[in-house]
Amino acid sequence: MGAEGGFDRDFTLPELLSPRDAAELCAVAGAVLGVPVAVLDAAGAVYGDGPPPPADAARAPLVVELEPLGFIAAACPPPALAEVARLLRWGLLARARLRMVSDLHLEAVRADYARLQQQNEALKISEAKYRELAASLDAKVREQTQIIDERQRQLYQAERLASIGQLAAGVAHEINNPLGFINSNLSAAERYREQLAGLRDALPAVEWQARDLDFVFADFADLLRDARDGVDRIARIVRDLKGFSSVDQPEEQVVDLNAQLASLLAVVNGQKKATIRLVTDFQPLPKLMCLPGHLNQAFLCILQNALQAVEAAGGTVTVRTRAVGEQITVSIADDGPGIPEDVLPRVFDPFFTTRGVGAGTGLGLTVARDIVLAHGGRIVIDLPLAGGTVVNVELPA
Ligand SMILES: Nc1ncnc2c1ncn2[C@@H]1O[C@H](COP(=O)(O)OP(=O)(O)OP(=O)(O)O)[C@@H](O)[C@H]1O
Ligand SMILES: [Mg+2]
Repeated sequence: MGAEGGFDRDFTLPELLSPRDAAELCAVAGAVLGVPVAVLDAAGAVYGDGPPPPADAARAPLVVELEPLGFIAAACPPPALAEVARLLRWGLLARARLRMVSDLHLEAVRADYARLQQQNEALKISEAKYRELAASLDAKVREQTQIIDERQRQLYQAERLASIGQLAAGVAHEINNPLGFINSNLSAAERYREQLAGLRDALPAVEWQARDLDFVFADFADLLRDARDGVDRIARIVRDLKGFSSVDQPEEQVVDLNAQLASLLAVVNGQKKATIRLVTDFQPLPKLMCLPGHLNQAFLCILQNALQAVEAAGGTVTVRTRAVGEQITVSIADDGPGIPEDVLPRVFDPFFTTRGVGAGTGLGLTVARDIVLAHGGRIVIDLPLAGGTVVNVELPA
C-alpha cells in the first residue's frame, strides 16, 4: 500500500482540520481564553482566514502523535494556552483515527476491486479460449462431415462403377462363348458348301438346273458371308463392352481417348431412343494417361444428361474431341432445353437434381467432376445463346 496507507502514518494539519474548522476552533478557544486565538501551520504561518496573532503572543503545539501539526497562538499566559492545546489534541486524535479507519476501508475496497478486475480478466481469457475451442470444434465437425460426405460419394461412385463394370464384363463373357462356336461352325459350313459345290460335275445337268442349285450355292455363300458379318459385329460390340468394363481396372493406362469414347458410344448407341441422333466429331488426340474405366464413367454421366435433355422432344447429341497443345477437350453438346440460370450454380452439388423422385440421384455431375478433377482436369458448362447445353471436359494430356 502507498505512503498514505496503514496505522503508522503522520497526518498533516489540512488533512485533519479544514480552514472552516480552524475558524470555529479559534472562536471556541478564544471564548475559553478571553483573547483572540490564531491557528498556525507546522511552518508557523497563519492557517485559515483568521487575523494573525499579536507579536508577543504565546504558542502551544498541536500534537497528535509526536511531531506538532501546527500551533495555536494567543496573547495569554502560556500554561492556559497549553491546556487548551491539550484539549484540542483529543479532537484531532479522534479525527486522525476516523481518517485511518476510512483510509483502511478504502484500501480494502480498492484491493477487492483490483481482485475482481483480475478475476474478470481471467474470466475473459478463459471465455476467449472456450470460444476459440468451440470455433475449432465447429470447424472440425464441418471438416469431418465433408470427409464423410466425400467418402459416401466415393463409395457410391465405386459401387456404380463396379456394378456397371460387372454387368458389362458378365454380358461380354456370356456372349463370347456362343460367339466362339458360331464362328467355328460358320467356318465348317463354308467348307461343307465348297465340298457340296464340287458335286456339280457328279450330278446330271438337268437335275442340277431343276433344283436351281446354282442359285442355292450362290445364295448359300451370301448367307454365310452375312452371318460372318453379323458375327464380326457382335464380336466388335463384345470388344467394346470389354473395353468399357475396364472400369474395374484400378491401374492407369495410356489410351487413345477417341477409341475409348467410340467404344463407350457404341454401348450407348444401342440403348438410345430412335428420335435421338448421336453425332461424333473426333480429331486426332495425343495419348492420355488415365484410369480408362473411371473416365468412361465420367463421360457416361455427362452423356446420360445430354440424352435425357433431348429424350422428350428428340434432338442431337454431339460428341466432339479436340486437342490444343497438351490440352484435350471433349465436348458433349445437346440441343435440349439448356440449364436454367438458377439451376446452373448447383448442378455439381451432391444430390442436387431437378428430376422427379426416383428419376435421378443428383450425383451424375458430382461423380464426373470428381473423376475429372482426379485426372487434373476440369468440367466447364457452356450455355450457347442458340440453346442447348455444352459440357466441356478439359484434360491435360
Ligand atoms: N445436358 C443438360 N441439360 C439440361 N439440364 C441438365 C443437363 N445436365 C445436367 N442438367 C441439370 O443438372 C442436374 C444435375 O445433374 P446430375 O447429372 O448431377 O444429376 P441428375 O442427372 O439429376 O441425377 P443422376 O445423374 O444422378 O441420375 C440435373 O438434374 C439437371 O437439372
Ligand atoms: Mg445425370
